[in-house]
Amino acid sequence: LTLTTVALFAAEGAEAQALREALGLNESLQGPKPIFRGQVGGHEVLLVETGVGKVAAASAVTYAQARFSPRWSLWAGVAGGLNPRLHSLDVLVAHDAVQWDVDITAFGRQPGELATGERFVRADIDLSTRVYRAALELGFPVHWGRVASGDRFLAHPADAARLREVFAADAVEMEGAAALWTAKDLALPMALVRTISDGADDDAHESFEMFLEQASERLAQVVRKVLQ
Ligand code: ADE
Repeated sequence: LTLTTVALFAAEGAEAQALREALGLNESLQGPKPIFRGQVGGHEVLLVETGVGKVAAASAVTYAQARFSPRWSLWAGVAGGLNPRLHSLDVLVAHDAVQWDVDITAFGRQPGELATGERFVRADIDLSTRVYRAALELGFPVHWGRVASGDRFLAHPADAARLREVFAADAVEMEGAAALWTAKDLALPMALVRTISDGADDDAHESFEMFLEQASERLAQVVRKVLQ
């Protein structure tokens, strides 16, 4: 019996905790960040609690790839909804993502455009489709969408409106695009799944705290379904 090694990534303690419980990842490993291991449905699963932000995301993906050589990976967490069609606890599967705070517009580039000329990074389509189907089968409201990632928690309607206008983004968080770029560089297939915790508006902070746990539990159910 050969197990397929899969890496899971979650930024927040609450997100990681929900995944650990739902998947029974009982073993703790030493490392630069909290790492948990267990077996789920023919997979050896490694969960990295990455910490918040783009640097934390990129370093965690790089580290996990170098140490464990996973065959594929999933980034799971909560996000602020920008598209008015998204409601609290809805599931969003990213088709692509952009670093909204990358800005070399002084050189005539588009907002979010990298020096390479690239702007949007695609998630692995087969994996993402599996995640979408799992959420659908569990009966959760699920959407495809674009994620905008940056090193700021958005809590103003004007900022949210700007990201929607400039990037046609559906949700905002602080890791996804960095994780997908890193995974792409390392040829690691990755899907990005988020549940909506807030509307990136004046109530974002309260809403985030109110929905974080429930949103994380829903995510964990989706991830378990994908692995089984
Ligand atoms: N993650 C969840 N909600 C968010 C928000 N409003 N801004 C950035 N990241 C988030």
